[in-house]
Amino acid sequence: MNENWIAPSILSANFAKLGEEVDNVLKAGADVVHFDVMDNHFVPNLTIGPLVCEALKKHGVTAPIDVHLMIEPVDRIIPDFAKAGADIITFHPEASVHIDRTLQLIKDNGCKAGLVFNPGTPLHYLDYVMDKLDMILLMSVNPGFGGQSFIPSSLDKLRQVRTRIDDSGLNIRLEIDGGVKTDNIRAIKEAGADTFVAGSAIFSQPDYKKVIDEMRAELAKAG
Ligand code: DX5
Ligand code: ZN
Repeated sequence: MNENWIAPSILSANFAKLGEEVDNVLKAGADVVHFDVMDNHFVPNLTIGPLVCEALKKHGVTAPIDVHLMIEPVDRIIPDFAKAGADIITFHPEASVHIDRTLQLIKDNGCKAGLVFNPGTPLHYLDYVMDKLDMILLMSVNPGFGGQSFIPSSLDKLRQVRTRIDDSGLNIRLEIDGGVKTDNIRAIKEAGADTFVAGSAIFSQPDYKKVIDEMRAELAKAG
């Protein structure tokens, strides 16, 4: 695995040939598959569920599947995603009444667990659960759609979370999701992220390898 993970969001892939799209983006150098789950309730859009995750695994995808739950409630569906082959499951704290219990449920089902913060969600949800986290995901757009612009204040929030992770001494990945492009990925890295979701930036281009190579070249320049 690379130190910096590029995580293409399949939300922007061609769903009519999803298996092929995922194969191609992994062949192009992606590290993990970012799998956006929306319920038309927590967010105003409706996407894919455990059956599609299972289908990708059966298709032969061996890269980690990073399931981003934008659904409410979350607990009932977690065992289904674990059985379907999810490796990482993240959820929004507003969508669970019992955050600690939901994190433990994800771990009890054999997956890595993470919390997701919307642009307007305060970081205090981290206060008592750092030891249960494998990943912290900061949204740099309001969730629901691909192709939105990166919200600049996310950089300051990233720096705050990076400090919290480093102070904790724990092994927690810091993921950013929304509006990540070749021209801002370096600044995002410098603010502390190590896992980069990119949907439209990759899938809107004909050559996925070219975009991913350009992103890695930008990451290599980060100070
Ligand atoms: C938004 C999703 C993102 C989205 C990112 O709600 O969580 O993963 O697909 O898309 P881009 O990279 O196009 O902003
Ligand atoms: Zn996402």
